[in-house]
Order: sequence, then C-alpha cells, then structure tokens
Amino acid sequence: MKQTDVLIIGAGAAGLFCAGTAVRRGKRVAVIDHAAHPGEKIRISGGGRCNFTNLAATPYRFLSQNPRFAASALARFLPQDFVALVDHAGIAWHEKTQGQLFCDGKSTQIIDLLLHRMRGAELRLNSSLTDLQRDGDAFVATISGERLRADRVVVACGGKSIPKMGATGLAYEIAAQFGLRIVPTQAGLVPLTFAEQDLALSRPLAGIAVEAQIAHGGGNFRDGLLFTHRGLSGPVILQISSFWAPGEVLSIDLAPGIDVATAMKQRKGQGGKVAVATALAQLLPERLATAIAAEQGLADARLADQPNARLDQLGARVQRWQVKPVGTEGYRTAEVTLGGVDTRDLDARTMQARKAPGLYFIGECVDVTGWLGGYNFQWAWASGEAAGQAV
Ligand code: FDA
Repeated sequence: MKQTDVLIIGAGAAGLFCAGTAVRRGKRVAVIDHAAHPGEKIRISGGGRCNFTNLAATPYRFLSQNPRFAASALARFLPQDFVALVDHAGIAWHEKTQGQLFCDGKSTQIIDLLLHRMRGAELRLNSSLTDLQRDGDAFVATISGERLRADRVVVACGGKSIPKMGATGLAYEIAAQFGLRIVPTQAGLVPLTFAEQDLALSRPLAGIAVEAQIAHGGGNFRDGLLFTHRGLSGPVILQISSFWAPGEVLSIDLAPGIDVATAMKQRKGQGGKVAVATALAQLLPERLATAIAAEQGLADARLADQPNARLDQLGARVQRWQVKPVGTEGYRTAEVTLGGVDTRDLDARTMQARKAPGLYFIGECVDVTGWLGGYNFQWAWASGEAAGQAV
C-alpha cells in the first residue's frame, strides 16, 4: 500500500493552498480531485479575473453559527500575506471597490501560483474517493480502486454550490462518518426568485440595473440590483440572500441617498406640465420609473395634479419596496454554501476535528461563509494555511 504524510481531498482554493503550506514544511502531500482540472472555481471567479481577497477581511464579514471561529485563522493569514504571494509571482492586480482585489489579467494566474507553490506534492486528478477508514492513528483511503495510507487527511472538497462544476457534498458525508455535527446547509450569494404573480413588474424590466440598499437580518448592503426574468439578482441581492430565509419580506430602497417624495414635491413646486413618470426618471432608470408610475396608476398623470400625500406614497413605493421572494436559484448558481461542518467540532487554530485527531476540514465545507467580494477565497487561503501548518 502506498503511503503519504498528508492526503488532501479536493484541489480547489483551500486544498491547493493547504498543499503548498504542507509541502513547504517538508511533508509528503497527495492532493486528489475527481475533476479533470484543479481550481475550476478559481478559473471562473470574479468574471474570469478572480477577486482573490478583500483588504477588509475581518471575522465580521463572515456568517457562521460561531462568528468568532474564523478569527484565529484570519488573523494568522492576512489579505496582505496573499497579496505578497501575488506580487512575488508578478501578477498584476487592482482594487475594484470596497477593498476587493482582482487580477488585471486572467484568474488562471492564481491557479498557476497555487500549483507552483505546491511543487513536490502529488496531484491526482480524475480520482474519486470511495472509502476512508481509520487505521490506528492514521487513515486508509480508497481512491479510484487504489489504497493509500495517510497520517493526516484534510477535507477540502467544498460545499454544494454548482453541482455542474463538481460540487458533491462529500465533505459533509466524511464529517458525519467521523461523528462531526453539520449545520444545515443553504445556498448563499444567490439570486432570488419571485412567484409568478410577483413577476409582473420585474419580468418586463429584465436586464435593468439600479443602485439599491437593503437592510435585512443583520446585513445592510448598498450595491447594484438587477431585474431578471425570474426575480432579482446583482451584488446587493447576492449579499442579502445570505441573510434571508424563505417566507421573509425584504424592504428595498431603489433610490438610496435620495428622498424621493421630497424631490418629487420640489419638482412639482417648480410648476410646468411634467409627467410623474418623467420626473421620476430623473431619479431612477427611465424604464423602471415608467413601470412604477404605471403600477401606481400614474401612467399618464401630471405631477402638478398629485397631492403631496400621493407623492409620499410613491416615494414609499420606491424606497420601501416590499418584496417576498418565493425562493432562490439554489445551488445551481449559488456562489457559496451557507452552513456546513459545525465549528464546535473543529479546533479554530488548526481546523482539526476534535473527535477525530488527524482529520481536518477547511474552506467552504466549514460553517464559515464570507460576504461577496473576495472574502470566501481569503477564508480558503487562511483555513488552508492553518491546517497546512498543523498537519
Ligand atoms: P472549491 O469548490 O474551490 O474546491 C473543492 C474541490 O473539491 C473542487 O475542485 C471539486 O472538484 C472537488 N471535489 C468535490 N467533490 C469531490 C469528490 N466527491 N471527490 C473528489 N473531489 C471532489 N469567492 C471569492 O472570494 N471571490 C470571487 O471572485 C468568487 N467568485 C465566485 C464565482 C462563482 C461563479 C462561484 C461559484 C464562486 C465564487 N467564489 C468567489 C466562491 C469561491 O469560489 C469558493 O468560496 C471557494 O472556491 C471555496 O474553496 P474550496 O477549496 O473550499 O472549494
């Protein structure tokens, strides 16, 4: 039977980073993945430019049943540490907004960096784990029919997001097999969908984007909102989706920073024959303004004819739009999986399972989920580093 010091299951962001750290400590490392290529999510991330970290990656930017769990790993591997690796590799990057760092070129540069950093590790692609058993202090894994003995096993096979890209939920099965608890999982950073009757407004507006602000469930975001054929998307919706649960109503401000009712009254005070929709279009994209005016029975109405109470109503409609999504687009398009391996069963310094010494869980499979904007990769690097230093 072949032997290795460390077996890493999953050649994604966390697994590749962990492998690099362990190899640099002189460990024999084998990384397996059932996919044909490593780091596929890195390749497609950030619109192909990989939002590889966020300078504001504090524990407050992560959701977890235990928000303090991530603090230790995040404090010991900072965004600046990853930036140093990116700089050392000669990869050009830029800050987009709010601390989000992207490659100037292709995200495959980050995959190349990770593969270069783990030189000396064995990478086995197109390989499936079919069995994992304890063998004394070590483990025996059956991988595509072949048995491998490993002193340490790191589970880095991600969450359930995007099954088409190879997501399987294997991490949760391994966790359950070794007696770890699982926080129920849910699609996160995902578009929201409406019931058929609620699509009357949004469907004709599909493709229109507007800046919006949504506060809900402890999250408060101001960013782009996109109307879609099935509901709502865009960064502000992806962010708030991680704080939303089925059955809950969202209150959306479609004109943050503006007092719409006051602006409309001021415009009315200037006189003239301007239509409500035209005045509203000074504050919102034209098609959205027209649709809202029509929905409010003001399609052809003149602003001068509207009592102030009516304009207050219109302002409330724009700035406190009450929507009750029927669901999300689900794991099919979700960028991340909320929930996962319960952090109460992991050591925050090392990511080792308390009940199964030698077994580690890192990356998205753990109940630590970042906001949109490079936080999830920072968690992958930081948790991968923590385990890589410990194995
Ligand atoms: P990851 O999913 O990367 O890797 C898991 C690996 O395990 C995969 O290679 C998979 O093939 C393998 N695997 C799964 N099941 C297996 C099995 N049964 N047997 C063997 N191997 C198995 N984050 C961010 O910070 N910035 C960004 O720009 C983006 N952009 C983005 C875009 C899109 C479209 C998505 C879907 C996601 C993002 N993310 C992101 C999130 C980010 O991609 C995610 O958080 C990390 O990839 C998680 O890293 P992991 O290594 O934990 O899992």
